[in-house]
Amino acid sequence: MLYLIGLGLSYKSDITVRGLEAIKKCNRVYLEHYTSILMAATQEELEEFYGKSIVLADRELVESGCEDILRDADKEDVAFLVVGDPFGATTHTDLVLRAKKQGIPVDVIHNASIMNAVGSCGLQLYNFGQTVSMVFFTDSWRPDSWYDKIWENRKIGLHTLVLLDIKVKEQSLENMARGRLIYEPPRYMSISQCCEQLLEIEENRGTKAYTPDTPAVAISRLGSAQQAFKSGTIAELANYDSGEPLHSLVILGRQCHELELEYLMEFADDKQKLRQDVIKDQEYFKPAPWVPTEEDDN
Ligand SMILES: C[S@@+](CC[C@H](N)C(=O)[O-])C[C@H]1O[C@@H](n2cnc3c(N)ncnc32)[C@H](O)[C@@H]1O
Repeated sequence: MLYLIGLGLSYKSDITVRGLEAIKKCNRVYLEHYTSILMAATQEELEEFYGKSIVLADRELVESGCEDILRDADKEDVAFLVVGDPFGATTHTDLVLRAKKQGIPVDVIHNASIMNAVGSCGLQLYNFGQTVSMVFFTDSWRPDSWYDKIWENRKIGLHTLVLLDIKVKEQSLENMARGRLIYEPPRYMSISQCCEQLLEIEENRGTKAYTPDTPAVAISRLGSAQQAFKSGTIAELANYDSGEPLHSLVILGRQCHELELEYLMEFADDKQKLRQDVIKDQEYFKPAPWVPTEEDDN
């Protein structure tokens, strides 16, 4: 059996009872180590807690070398651990499909994910649209396909969850070109860098999917003892020191419910200014009034 097991958001003890029981009977245990990190536990602490040694699975192992992970999984139990929920990242459906093609039975043991725990910022999960990922810009690579998705969400009033890039084990371009297996120190995008990139692309595109005055909420280290929220405009959050990773950002949709706003005001430096910013943003993005056609009249 291949077990895909969600570890939850932060602590070693966030694993479910069923997840822990499954790990205990596995011959091999892999910990996916490139889409997220467990903030409050080291590899050694997890190994002690599970009573098993763990292989860290980087992107290369999961995406190109997944035969190693699937080896003998039709005869013995193998665990693939994912921080959050196994399906909270887009990449792991591929591993499941490959396992199924090889006749390997798969059991998924779910857990809390940023995709649902984000509700603790006060915005209703039912009012979220497409999630987008913000990658680190380089001098020559500044991808902005996420911009259209934010625009689509905002047009129909929905909030946008922005996930921020992390680079846990990456080679520099030079080391990659020279085939040198030397890895850069881990990097985690901050809220301010994300907001700066948002503002840069808005300035280039100029179609006002959002503006520097659009309200947003920064969510840091969710589920850990150091979790923090900060609401403000995108321009204000571009100057916010968000501290240690992990971070996510939510850009407000233009239909912000009064209860959502009341919750967000708790996280604002200037509560009344946030209220005014939300009202101004909603006015700006109000849809054109509906005018009945002759058909509607009949
Ligand atoms: C590719 S997603 C993987 C999500 C994970 N599998 C899950 O279900 O939560 C990783 C990104 O989600 C966001 N994220 C994950 N956990 C977080 C947390 N506890 N607090 C804030 N953001 C988080 C960060 O932007 C991080 O770079």
